Amino acid sequence: MKKIIPLIIAVLAIPALSVSAANGKALFEKHCAKCHGKDGKGHTFMGKRFHAKDYTNPAAQKELKDEAIVKAIKEGFKEKSGREVMWPTKGLSDSDIKGLVQYMRSFVKK
Ligand code: HEC
Repeated sequence: MKKIIPLIIAVLAIPALSVSAANGKALFEKHCAKCHGKDGKGHTFMGKRFHAKDYTNPAAQKELKDEAIVKAIKEGFKEKSGREVMWPTKGLSDSDIKGLVQYMRSFVKK
């Protein structure tokens, strides 16, 4: 895990990103949109039930580190109470995860 993070950051810095970003969209819609919403706002049945954040909000994005996105995808996410609100997403390659990180970043309108 510790070795992977600098690698991900290095790859994210490479300009040829459009391919994995497009891949990120498809993966997000497949694995994540049922809770986080296609637009990242979390206005879905599941998103409301589990209090998914609005990731079009720049403040929410600012708080969120790339490592935390990777971790949430690989290990899932628990609320402070310990309730698991997001389970790990299985079967994704590192490049799939990179694409998802990029795609999540695109929810904020600049
Ligand atoms: C079962 C519903 C569900 C699914 C499916 C789901 N999530 Fe989540 N996720 C949540 C909830 C609820 C939270 C906690 C509130 C928040 O931070 O939005 C969360 C939190 C997160 C966080 C924040 C982690 C942190 O440290 O703050 C990220 C990033 C995230 N999800 C990304 C994803 C991605 C990418 C996918 C698809 C691979 C995904 N989620 C699939 C429900 C889900």
